[in-house]
Amino acid sequence: QEDSLLDTFDRRARDMRISLTDFCNLRCSYCMPEEGVEFMSRDAAMTAEEIIRFVRIGVEKFGVDQVRFTGGEPLTRKDVTDIIAGVAALDPRPNIALTTNAIGLDKRAAKLRDAGLDRINVSLDTVDPETFATITRRPFLDRVLDGIKGAQAAGMDPVKINAVLLPGVNDHQAPQLLRWCLDRGLKLRFIEQMPLDAGHSWERGTMITAADIFALLEPDFVLTPDSAPRGGAPAEKFLVASRDDPETVIGDVGIIASVTRPFCADCTRTRLTAEGRVRTCLFSHTEVDLLTAMRGGADDEAIANLWKGAHWKKLAGHGMDSESFEQPQRPMSAIGG
Ligand code: GTP
Ligand code: 5AD
Ligand code: SF4
Repeated sequence: QEDSLLDTFDRRARDMRISLTDFCNLRCSYCMPEEGVEFMSRDAAMTAEEIIRFVRIGVEKFGVDQVRFTGGEPLTRKDVTDIIAGVAALDPRPNIALTTNAIGLDKRAAKLRDAGLDRINVSLDTVDPETFATITRRPFLDRVLDGIKGAQAAGMDPVKINAVLLPGVNDHQAPQLLRWCLDRGLKLRFIEQMPLDAGHSWERGTMITAADIFALLEPDFVLTPDSAPRGGAPAEKFLVASRDDPETVIGDVGIIASVTRPFCADCTRTRLTAEGRVRTCLFSHTEVDLLTAMRGGADDEAIANLWKGAHWKKLAGHGMDSESFEQPQRPMSAIGG
């Protein structure tokens, strides 16, 4: 590799996360305000060609080997398939993943897969329609479930499910959700909520921790830590057996303890917001605008240099435990999960 995306903590980023839009058709309370946000104008967002060029620069200059498209809701863009096909045509071809709420996925999964989509993660916090409407502020559970079915029917495997547990809202449903996922061959990961909500209502004292999740599942399930190495992956994996048949492993479950067991020291991520700005961390307070440079005619070398300069200043970690921690201004929906 001619060059790398290095930071002062000697980490090298190879994992690129790209927000395709800040728009979403849900309003999850931990991610967006009820009234929505002022969405960016269409012209402000990167075009498919621009996105593909950024990925090409990442692949050629920095050895990026993994790309994940996020949002907002990436499927609210019509050109996701073109973007994936463009990235899949790069050489070397990076692994291509998508994080989505699955609305509309039933109609698009086969095309996305044919375009080159390798992996898919779906956000689903509950399978109870009322709780779904409370969390997402939209009554679309059926559409999400159709989307998940569609992804499986298209042969996407595994389909991972991301669930954020909110105290007093869906935490008590954790065993039900796990059972539901195991029955369908879906790979569930529970995620600790991070302070990225627009209402700034996150509280360390009341958030559901990895330890809480364990305790919630214990009465119904026996969980055994998976000894396979975790690499840089955020999820800690556990083999699952039913409490009433503890010898028979029926699947696994992940817990992503971003707050109580941060994985920042192994972080290999670089992010692009939908407006083409580099964010070196979810919790950055600064962004570096690459898109304006690209639109101004900068060549690959110049863009790579700007990117590298920004990445060098990547924070050690989110610093949630420090006295001086401040939640970023933008909510998760605008940053890109
Ligand atoms: P795979 O393990 O490859 O499937 O990817 P992933 O876990 O990164 O995928 P996904 O986008 O589904 O993210 C899962 C969860 O990890 C998110 O819901 C976030 O809560 C958390 N997460 C994602 N990106 C970051 C990050 O950069 N930093 C931290 N601390 N947490 C993150
Ligand atoms: N904390 C943790 N995870 C979050 N997500 C969105 N907001 C938060 C938050 N505040 C998750 C969603 C989705 C992924 C992109 O990020 O559940 O699966
Ligand atoms: Fe990486 Fe920042 Fe996430 Fe920590 S919080 S894992 S440093 S992106």
